Amino acid sequence: MENNTTTQSIYGEHKPALENTMNDILAHIKEIRVQMNAQLGMDPVEHCLGRIKSEESMREKCRRNNFPETTQSALEDIFDAIGIRIVCAFVDDVYTIRDCIVNSGKYEIIREKDYIRHSKPNGYRSYHMILRAGGYFAEIQLRTISMDTWAALEHHLKYKKQIGSRQALIVSELKRCADELASTDLSMQTIRDMIFQLNECE
Ligand code: GTP
Ligand code: MG
Repeated sequence: MENNTTTQSIYGEHKPALENTMNDILAHIKEIRVQMNAQLGMDPVEHCLGRIKSEESMREKCRRNNFPETTQSALEDIFDAIGIRIVCAFVDDVYTIRDCIVNSGKYEIIREKDYIRHSKPNGYRSYHMILRAGGYFAEIQLRTISMDTWAALEHHLKYKKQIGSRQALIVSELKRCADELASTDLSMQTIRDMIFQLNECE
């Protein structure tokens, strides 16, 4: 792969192929939703978003990781040029969709990180997968609505510089919220299980 000067896209000529690959994965996720909808009687996905990492974020990530700002780095050393986020109402559906993706045989699974069972110290929860599809890497993040809400707020606060002296309190309060939301997710899952059981008895 050729080196790029800053005047060209860091993705070189690959942008359309990256978009095609992303759209193929999104179409596959849509199929999984339709199948699960037939089984569950409800769409398990609240929303699903795909994006190609912006030029500026990709260059910034190369610099941060001490990679040269090249197409090679963007496509082979960094794994989230393609990013997909799947937000579910219930925790069980996160794992069911994960299983559907892995068992489809469509992808090479590069790595998985279960930040739901093993949350980050700050309270962050999500299920992360890196896979390879059509010659490109893609990062898939699966999470519940609660986890998504928390991550959005935490992301927002990360860029607030004036937190200063209240830093420690804010960090510990955020962690407490993450844990409370996780506990509520479990309760919601239990409620759904009870409703399913009642329906089966009818
Ligand atoms: P990068 O963080 O992408 O450099 O890679 P990594 O190898 O550290 O991967 P990790 O699985 O930790 O995070 C990948 C992505 O998950 C990030 O780019 C964020 O989108 C999301 N993420 C991870 N940790 C956090 C967090 O503490 N807060 C929020 N809001 N998002 C996070
Ligand atoms: Mg990270």
